[in-house]
Formats: sequence, structure tokens, C-alpha cells
Amino acid sequence: MTVILDGKSLANKIIENIKINTESLSKKPKLAVILVGDDSASQIYVKNKQKKAEYVGFDSIVIPLPSDVTEENILEHIYILNEDENINAILVQLPLPKGINQKKILEAIDPIKDVDGFTSYNFGRLALGYMPYAFPCTPKGIVKLLDAYNIEIESKNIIVIGRSNIVGKPLSLIFQQRNATVTMANSYTKNLKELTKNADIIVSAVGKPNFIDGSFVKQGAVVVDVGINRTEVGILGDVDFPSVYEKASFITPVPGGVGPMTIAELLENTYELFKIQRSLILQ
Ligand code: GUN
Repeated sequence: MTVILDGKSLANKIIENIKINTESLSKKPKLAVILVGDDSASQIYVKNKQKKAEYVGFDSIVIPLPSDVTEENILEHIYILNEDENINAILVQLPLPKGINQKKILEAIDPIKDVDGFTSYNFGRLALGYMPYAFPCTPKGIVKLLDAYNIEIESKNIIVIGRSNIVGKPLSLIFQQRNATVTMANSYTKNLKELTKNADIIVSAVGKPNFIDGSFVKQGAVVVDVGINRTEVGILGDVDFPSVYEKASFITPVPGGVGPMTIAELLENTYELFKIQRSLILQ
């Protein structure tokens, strides 16, 4: 029987836990989100993040900036947030509009407030196997979801399709540190199906609806769908759910799988950065 990995329910448990822990704090963690441009999906994600942050009792601020804002102006906002001791976590919603140097923007975030773990300091520490201040939210959420269902990672053949800095790259590194054998596939990969059919765990972070169907999947494999594709028939994952469900032992749904875990981990990272910063002040 195939088990559906219920990210929504696990995320709710994590969120309730953070809410309880936050109630006893005299000062509340504060998350700042910079949203550049008018990408409608990003606007929805940011609204959701802010709503959930408020739900757990965090303070939050969203700084909306027009798509023709200059790099210097975004950097100025980041410098102010870096210096503001009331701000514990900074998130720059991606993607940024074309023409803005994403690397320069993300690198400006103080690593101790880098809630996504995207600065080279935090990402480098993750790559080296040292503790970063924060792990990227989606990979952290995926691994937590697998762990919650006691899905073995060690010694497994895992294929991660998509090598973005947000998901594929950091997730592959985390899996390697958990002693998996990891294949990182991308759009240039030849014979993808041969590779996926050999995998015990398939993670698809491609952004193409129904990209992975049952013919890509070994009987009993675990399939994690990171795709959120807006189509005429609504939001679809990368995975053709009905045909993959027939083969998989565990599968994440879209929606209700990876998406809610990302938000839960954003809140957890915010809480943890707050704690780290407080402990440094109190030293
Ligand atoms: N855009 C899509 N996913 C993410 C994420 O995890 N963090 C940020 N900052 N932007 C995103």
C-alpha cells in the first residue's frame, strides 16, 4: 500500500510547537521579507509566510519594492535590516526581477540573520558538513518529512532532479552527509529514466507539470514532488500522481506535501536565529 507523506499535518505540528514556545518569550522573533516586483506567485508565498509568522506570534515586516528598484536601493534596505537589532531573520523572496544581481543581494545579508541559509557563509558551512546558522528551508523540510516516516536515507540511491541553490544543490549535500549515494540530475542529463529507475528515492524539483510518470519509478521507491506549477487546471506538481502512486511506497502530494514544510521550516529557522542572537547578547 502506498503511503501519502502528509507534509501539511507534520508542518502543523511543527508550527503549533513554535507557537507554544513563542508564547513564553518576553520579546518576539521578528522576520523581515523583501519582496521585489509583482510576481503573483511570489506575492502569494510571501502573504502566506507573513500570515503564518503572525499566527505563531512572531513580529513580521514585508518590504515591497517595485520591479525597477535599483540594486543599491535593495542593498540599503538589507544593510538597515542587518543593523536593526529587532530584526532576527531576513528573507529576500526569489526570483528577483531580471537585471538584478541575485548573488550580490543575497551576499549582503548578515549570515546570522540569513533565514534561508543562502549566503556563501551558511551554504559553505553546509557543504563542508559544519553547522550553518540556518539550513535552506525546503531541503530541511523534505528531510524532516522523510525522517518523520522513518524512511531510511543512509546507503540509499537517491536522485535529485534539479540543481537549484534553493532546493537541489543543498538537498543533495544533506543527503550525502546522511550517507546516501546521490545523483544530481539536471536538464542536460542523458538517460534520466535509467537513473530514476535505479533510485530508491526520487526528488523532482524541475518545475514541469507531470514530468515524472510511473515509467520513471522503480516499484517501492519513495517519490518527493517539489514542483508547484500553475496551470490552466490548477496547481500541479512535477509528478503524475496517479501513475506514480501505483508504483511508489511513499509519495508527497501537491498541494499538502513539501510546500507546507517549507513554511514550517522558515518559522523554525526564524525562531532558532532569534535564540542564537539572544544567546550571543546574553553571553
Ligand atoms: N522562492 C522559492 N522558494 C524560496 C525560498 O525557499 N526562499 C526564498 N527566499 N525564495 C524562494
